[in-house]
Amino acid sequence: MRIMIVGCGSRGSKLAEAADGLMEVKRIYLVDSDNSRAEAVAAKLKKAVVVNGVEEELYHCDLVIECATQEVAHDIVPKVVARGVDVMIMSVGALVDEDYRTMIFDRAKECDVRIYIPSGAVCGTDGLRASAIGELKVVEINTVQGTASFKGVEFIEQKGINLDNLKERTLLYSGSARDAVKLFPRNVNVAALVSILGFGFDKTTVNIFADPATTSNSHELKVKGEFGEMTCSTYNVTSPDNPNTSNLAVFSAISALERIVKNQWIGI
Ligand SMILES: NC(=O)c1ccc[n+]([C@@H]2O[C@H](COP(=O)([O-])OP(=O)(O)OC[C@H]3O[C@@H](n4cnc5c(N)ncnc54)[C@H](O)[C@@H]3O)[C@@H](O)[C@H]2O)c1
Repeated sequence: MRIMIVGCGSRGSKLAEAADGLMEVKRIYLVDSDNSRAEAVAAKLKKAVVVNGVEEELYHCDLVIECATQEVAHDIVPKVVARGVDVMIMSVGALVDEDYRTMIFDRAKECDVRIYIPSGAVCGTDGLRASAIGELKVVEINTVQGTASFKGVEFIEQKGINLDNLKERTLLYSGSARDAVKLFPRNVNVAALVSILGFGFDKTTVNIFADPATTSNSHELKVKGEFGEMTCSTYNVTSPDNPNTSNLAVFSAISALERIVKNQWIGI
């Protein structure tokens, strides 16, 4: 299998490293707008080469992994799909726009292409996916992060909340996933994934808390519906190189890649 990784930052470099260790992966093409990043990753790996753009080796690829930005996902996913190549999307926030999402899923069906979206930093998405076959009544995500995760968020500044003065867990936002992804762009991946799997951005409730005492990023997923009820809590250790992302987000992408290359679908 030949894969292309677009974006060689925190996530992309770790995925490339994991891909290099998989015997089923024969070649890894690396793309980054900052060529030196792609070169630095390639230098540490056995199977990687740097290419100048997605189009350059697309015909030779079996899978493209977007690991850059929402804008990059918006731009490249339709091109990759149109060429009949499978794609994994890390910048899930690119799928908030319904017209765009419908367009790429429809196009993927026409072109017999698979779109993969890893579960990321939240557990319980298997149960949510299955429960959405029946009627859903509540899908709620409660996110708790340390105060440092919210520094520079415009909405917090507008509300006049001084994060440095918080003494206890404080609710920053409660409302729809649609507004949450606009107001808290760093939380977009979990809220978007849960909304897409469940019953959409307007009916999904997101509560976001800042907790000065925590160093973890936690997500509690609550679902009620025809199937019954579930609550699933994930207490994430954050990546040492980026306090806004969790180790599990990287692990989930690596495990998705392993499932794809080994063609094994256990617990789907
Ligand atoms: N789904 C999840 O669970 C999950 C978890 C963490 C991060 N993410 C998302 O994955 C993406 C990457 O995250 P990260 O932490 O690795 O970010 P990062 O900033 O560390 O790396 C992004 C890389 O993309 C490159 N890039 C930017 N524009 C580009 C372009 N036009 N063409 C090619 N490369 C380009 C940058 O130079 C950089 O090297 C982000 O959108 C992030 O929100 C998703």
